[in-house]
Amino acid sequence: LSNTMVNYKVILDVDPGIDDAIATMIALQSLDIEVLGISTVNGNIGSRLGALNTLKILHALGRSDIPVLQGATKPLIKRRTVRPEYFHGKGGLGGLQLELPENKKILSKLRLSDFIESTLKSYRKGEVSIIATGPLTNIAKLFTDDNFSSTLGYLGEISIMGGAFGLDNETFGSFTKYAEFNFYSDPEAAKIVLDENQNLNRKVVGLDVTSNPLCTVDPELVRKLTKLKGTTLKTKITASLLGFAVSVRNTCNLHDVFAVAMLEKPSLFKLKKGRIEVILNGTMRGHSKFIEDNASSNHILVASDVNEKEFNNFLFSRLLKN
Ligand code: RIB
Ligand code: CA
Repeated sequence: LSNTMVNYKVILDVDPGIDDAIATMIALQSLDIEVLGISTVNGNIGSRLGALNTLKILHALGRSDIPVLQGATKPLIKRRTVRPEYFHGKGGLGGLQLELPENKKILSKLRLSDFIESTLKSYRKGEVSIIATGPLTNIAKLFTDDNFSSTLGYLGEISIMGGAFGLDNETFGSFTKYAEFNFYSDPEAAKIVLDENQNLNRKVVGLDVTSNPLCTVDPELVRKLTKLKGTTLKTKITASLLGFAVSVRNTCNLHDVFAVAMLEKPSLFKLKKGRIEVILNGTMRGHSKFIEDNASSNHILVASDVNEKEFNNFLFSRLLKN
């Protein structure tokens, strides 16, 4: 397929983690997305382990051509590092053992902004976007790097999984009752990246949408995956990752997949304009508040709902595709 068909060129910023790994594979499969590079960030796992996990998945999918960069090893303001081990299992991929490619190197975190700058400037302004599915430490460093400020204008948009805005009238957090994990891990970074004065379009989908009980994977889906005719390594990996996830929680939400869908198919989402406040101190550290404002620019769009049927078609067609 020639690249001319591709609608979106993206850099993924991830902390794989099971749903990050699934989101990465779904982005790689998309006919509308070309993945130009993947950076990892401290979150579900350390950024080095995240980079190794990413290398293994790319190798399994025959995509070792895609550069992998190790990003931040800790949040902007070092606090206790938290790891939701329970959900992502040993090694961050539910204990899945995959082989590392031979001579593939992880590009160092020192070169992350260089890589992103050279990638952005290899294309037209606005042609390359970022999908961020972990804590926003790497992205915040780009925003606060004076040498990068002119390059920021080359970015198309950023599609972010993070926060919990209570737009379903009940979901305000997960990791603590007030905060979602990605924002809780680095609230200072979230505050920087979501600054409404930045002249850059950012779409944010929080737990209030990604935890939709109608948009889950369950053991039945895993059974379908394992019975697929002509299973490939890709479907075996998917079945293993989801098999672990549903063993921990009978039905699970693949939060990070929503950030891929929100870039590729924004029409699946109801998006509201406004601004986001992130609490930095006290028991509500990491809490995210959305203040709707139709008079505001398009810089910050927050998902308030998803078309469940269309999203599930998107999700299952990708998961079950060899
Ligand atoms: O709160 C959901 C987010 O945290 C997702 O990015 C998932 O990977 C978890 O770590
Ligand atoms: Ca993640």
